[in-house]
Amino acid sequence: MTIGGFDEARGIRVGARAVVILPHITSKASVGHALRSPEAKLAEAIGLTRAIALDVAHAEVVKVRSVQVSRLLGSGQIERLAGLVASMEAEVVIIDGRVTPVQQRNLEKLLKAKVIDRTGLILEIFGERASTAEGTLQVELAHLQYQASRLVRSWTHLERQRGGFGFLGGPGESQIESDRRLIRDRIARLRDDLEDVRRTRGLHRRNRQKAPWPVVALVGYTNSGKSTLFNRLTGAEVRAEDLLFATLDPTMRAIKLPGHEKVVLSDTVGFVSDLPTQLVAAFRATLEEVLEADLIVHVRDISHPDSDAQAQDVIDVLTSLGLAPGQRETPMITVFNKIDALDDEQRELVRAEAGNDAIPVSALTGEGLEQLQAAMDLTLRADERVHRITVAVTDGRRMAWLHSHGEVVGQSGDDESLTLQVRLSDKDKSRFDAMS
Ligand code: GTP
Repeated sequence: MTIGGFDEARGIRVGARAVVILPHITSKASVGHALRSPEAKLAEAIGLTRAIALDVAHAEVVKVRSVQVSRLLGSGQIERLAGLVASMEAEVVIIDGRVTPVQQRNLEKLLKAKVIDRTGLILEIFGERASTAEGTLQVELAHLQYQASRLVRSWTHLERQRGGFGFLGGPGESQIESDRRLIRDRIARLRDDLEDVRRTRGLHRRNRQKAPWPVVALVGYTNSGKSTLFNRLTGAEVRAEDLLFATLDPTMRAIKLPGHEKVVLSDTVGFVSDLPTQLVAAFRATLEEVLEADLIVHVRDISHPDSDAQAQDVIDVLTSLGLAPGQRETPMITVFNKIDALDDEQRELVRAEAGNDAIPVSALTGEGLEQLQAAMDLTLRADERVHRITVAVTDGRRMAWLHSHGEVVGQSGDDESLTLQVRLSDKDKSRFDAMS
């Protein structure tokens, strides 16, 4: 995907060598993620870097005692890193943290490599993986907003794009002004396009809502195994890659659960910690399906050392959407995935921790999936009550619907109409009522 002419990182070759740095700020407690070890964060950053097809030549945690306003890192550290970049012939330095435009510019000069911060990195990934119209537009919008905040720097890129004079001399204020205007116009146009796409999407959703099946949404931290589980449950070949973010846009597919005719399963994009604010809207767009779900299945990689912190991130985002347990009626099932990756002792611990609150499974081997399906079935039927419903005897369609969606526990009637006693969930009851 090309993003206007403003895409900074697009100049990077596929397979270019990259050095990945995690600045570990030791001067103050890092807010919110005290649980997460720097090593695990670094591993995640490596995964994210590989997800945009860069070749990670070196990765390290760099301790930062006090943040340098103009260049983030201390001069000794920068000198060492510059040597490393040169000796490894790295073209890109990924800094898994916040880098201000000024810091970025100075670091690029000193390290003689392109610098991408966490926001830039995630933007790249979203850009590559967005597949629906709305996802693409949202990412483009986020990218432009990110660029606009760095405009002082980006004019050089715009200038080169236009075959201008490049770095030397550079454009004057009027040039920057017209670039600002360009971006502003583009953003306004994108907002209009998004509005259009949303309208049609809403129509589609309304169509689907009429489909008389409950929707189950899989959510979880990136790489927790959602796509693998989705494939297992649907028997479908959706991309499951050992790349992060294999799924940006929700994928929907119907599955059969024991007590249901059909259930629609929807896979969603993975969560990450410290989601850049510019990307929250783009990310939320991918979660719209979750808002409509009848059941949320939270998939956790229980074999990951930061599993608890990851789960907290997911809950935080769901909370901000008003979807966390206790906030809304949407029930949630927690899945402890990847139990095959645990040794016997760990397995026992995980089983004990799961108790009745979570279901240990392996999406890879299929272990535990029957229990999961049974739990999904049970939860979807938890709010079932017996309703007395009268249907004309000639109305075969509604009659058949009641028989396939509910449990008919009794019936009475005459030649014209039948009154059924049917066990149905409240949702199914409203679906039935909405049927014409
Ligand atoms: P995103 O799209 O990034 O959100 O990832 P995801 O949650 O959809 O994860 P995905 O299904 O792509 O799996 C990520 C990696 O974990 C892949 O390498 C899978 O093979 C692996 N994986 C998934 N489930 C299991 C499991 O039960 N056990 C083990 N050992 N590995 C698993």
